[in-house]
Amino acid sequence: MIRIAPSILSADFSKLGEEIQEIEKAGADWIHIDVMDGHFVPNITIGPVVIKHIRPLTSLFFDVHLMIQQPDRYIEAFARAGADLLTIHAETCEDIRSVISLIKEKGCKAGVSINPDTPVENIKEIIPIVDLVLVMSVFPGFGGQKFIEAVLPKIKQTADIIKRTGRSIDIEVDGGITDKNAGLVIDKGANVLVAGSYVFKHDSYKKAIESLRVRS
Ligand code: DX5
Ligand code: ZN
Repeated sequence: MIRIAPSILSADFSKLGEEIQEIEKAGADWIHIDVMDGHFVPNITIGPVVIKHIRPLTSLFFDVHLMIQQPDRYIEAFARAGADLLTIHAETCEDIRSVISLIKEKGCKAGVSINPDTPVENIKEIIPIVDLVLVMSVFPGFGGQKFIEAVLPKIKQTADIIKRTGRSIDIEVDGGITDKNAGLVIDKGANVLVAGSYVFKHDSYKKAIESLRVRS
């Protein structure tokens, strides 16, 4: 089953609540929430207070993408604010395993993400203990960047490792996803597609979301 997770980074923040309700009506499966700290990535976006305020507006699954240094310091705050899944970047911490345990302890699903230039080998030992692997298809920091095709083999490589674990672990792809490349990432094994600018710049959120569910 393919899940589409619109990234609210490209939403109109002056009416964020309405945007979330529109995206839910349009058939979104998850809401992707990009948290940036101005250290791990050059941009600063939203924190737990925003998540807390949008939480009562929808029953959709909150997929929180933490692009922050020392994520362990903030896990509890994001869990309390209403995150369902917390995904940390492998590049941001020495002891990924302990942060994954902390996320689970706080009652959330746990994900690990890798930048386009981080090899899958770096998280090989971690994959069996997570619920989701996020393969970045742009360098994190901004919406609206161009999809990097060179990451396609990493999706397949991740899918092969997951198969060997015998567990059901999601593979999410994030960055530059459009109707032109959705089929390509799905064919490699991705089952959760994040799309920010493609969905929010489309006249019809519903048509945009539907167009991403097709195979190449
Ligand atoms: C990039 C973010 C993405 C971004 C996706 O740092 O992690 O989630 O919002 O936006 P698009 O789909 O426009 O590349
Ligand atoms: Zn993201």
